[in-house]
Amino acid sequence: MAIVLITSLHFLILLYVSCFSLAVAQDENGFIYNGFHNQELNLGLDGIAEICPNGLLQLTNLSRQEVGHAFYHFPIKFNTTNSSLSFSTNFVFAMVPEVDNLGGHGMAFTFSPLTDFTHALSNRFLGLFNDSKNGLPANHVLAIELDTVPESEFGDITKHVGIDVNGMKSVESAPAMYFSNEEGKNISVELMSGNPIDLWIDYDETEKLVNVTLAPITIPKPNRPLLSTHVDLSQILLDSMYVGFSAATSIPASYHYILGWSFNKSGPAQSLNFSSLPSLPQQRKRKEKPNLVIITFLMAVALVLITVAGAAAYILTRRKCKEIREDWEEEYGPNRLDRKDTKERLRQFYVLAIALGKKP
Ligand SMILES: *[C@@H]1O[C@H](CO)[C@@H](O)[C@H](O)[C@H]1NC(C)=O
Ligand SMILES: *[C@@H]1O[C@H](CO)[C@@H](O)[C@H](O)[C@H]1NC(C)=O
Ligand SMILES: *[C@@H]1O[C@H](CO)[C@@H](O)[C@H](O)[C@H]1NC(C)=O
Ligand SMILES: *[C@@H]1O[C@H](CO)[C@@H](O)[C@H](O)[C@H]1NC(C)=O
Ligand SMILES: *[C@@H]1O[C@H](CO)[C@@H](O)[C@H](O)[C@H]1NC(C)=O
Ligand SMILES: *[C@@H]1O[C@H](CO)[C@@H](O)[C@H](O)[C@H]1NC(C)=O
Ligand SMILES: *[C@@H]1O[C@H](CO)[C@@H](O)[C@H](O)[C@H]1NC(C)=O
Ligand SMILES: *[C@@H]1O[C@H](CO)[C@@H](O)[C@H](O)[C@H]1NC(C)=O
Repeated sequence: MAIVLITSLHFLILLYVSCFSLAVAQDENGFIYNGFHNQELNLGLDGIAEICPNGLLQLTNLSRQEVGHAFYHFPIKFNTTNSSLSFSTNFVFAMVPEVDNLGGHGMAFTFSPLTDFTHALSNRFLGLFNDSKNGLPANHVLAIELDTVPESEFGDITKHVGIDVNGMKSVESAPAMYFSNEEGKNISVELMSGNPIDLWIDYDETEKLVNVTLAPITIPKPNRPLLSTHVDLSQILLDSMYVGFSAATSIPASYHYILGWSFNKSGPAQSLNFSSLPSLPQQRKRKEKPNLVIITFLMAVALVLITVAGAAAYILTRRKCKEIREDWEEEYGPNRLDRKDTKERLRQFYVLAIALGKKP
């Protein structure tokens, strides 16, 4: 009797353990979120990220210079020894800017070995890195960024979609657009229109191409990717990687939303069911006409200030350079960052002036 009991108990435990590992195994290989409704979401959120009652994943609201993350709870298991690294993912996102047509800042689909982003910065670092971590091979980060503010520091020309390896300087990037299968040409997409945009990332371990494709949700997946770049992920990914999203705001800010997301390691990511995706909050009514007089005045003031600041900085730098020319760069390298920050502050001032001009 006791033996029977113990045997059946043993069987039950075995059954439980195998069922559990089966569930986890499935989770590690793929998942689909048609909105983020379920009780058990298996998502870890931090920063200002939250799930809205209607199942919308809001990575950031309009709080300025903040970050938000949402990562899948279970790490994805790759095998870098035998190069088992293929994956496919599909998600629908939307960005709603605080100030029309002004970026604030952006978001990134991310593979990361860790989900602790305590030291990561907002603004141009999109909640992924800081100055000292940016670009380090030890990061093991692959990010597909949707960046609405170009940074000359990172070689950006315009708002863009980029493939980033270990840092914010893109391996390849392009302005958002899609190849229209019907018309046979590229059509540009406004990242900050506030409309949902469908995005696909596909990687095949044999060809080693990272393909990024996007289109408005009214358009089926385009036949040609926007970006198709050779990246050897066996040099970047580790055997256990977290997958998710990072977003950051600057001044001004933007809402960053994910409406749905699917991921698959063993085939193409499942298409999302658009009719069950959560809807976006009603966008506030656009102001009819910004007050041109105020804007012109504020822009003139900003211009004068920028010119004066620039001239002063130029004179000061020239003096400094004359006095201590040698070793200055090497010894006080970080000063370069200050100049960038000054530029960033001037941009923020300028942007705020415009925003103020728009208030009735
Ligand atoms: C954004 O969300 C955070 C966290 O939920 C909250 O503390 C903050 O007040 C919100 N900001 C705005 C502008 O709504
Ligand atoms: C690589 O290893 C994984 C297990 O980690 C296995 O599932 C996969 O089939 C292997 N691939 C090849 C090409 O051997
Ligand atoms: C990865 O693949 C190698 C070679 O196929 C195999 O020996 C190893 O066990 C695999 N690792 C895991 C974690 O499955
Ligand atoms: C950057 O982040 C790392 C951890 O990711 C932290 O150890 C380091 O202190 C941070 N550096 C700065 C300048 O904040
Ligand atoms: C469309 O854009 C892609 C990616 O930038 C580019 O490679 C391609 O040449 C463009 N095609 C046409 C027809 O303009
Ligand atoms: C990536 O795009 C290239 C060029 O269109 C295509 O040949 C390749 O099959 C695509 N790979 C995947 C995994 O979608
Ligand atoms: C992943 O792709 C395989 C092959 O197409 C399919 O059988 C499986 O259902 C997909 N899994 C998920 C979670 O999408
Ligand atoms: C898509 O979602 C709608 C509404 O939730 C549902 O009625 C429909 O059956 C779903 N379609 C598929 C293919 O799952």
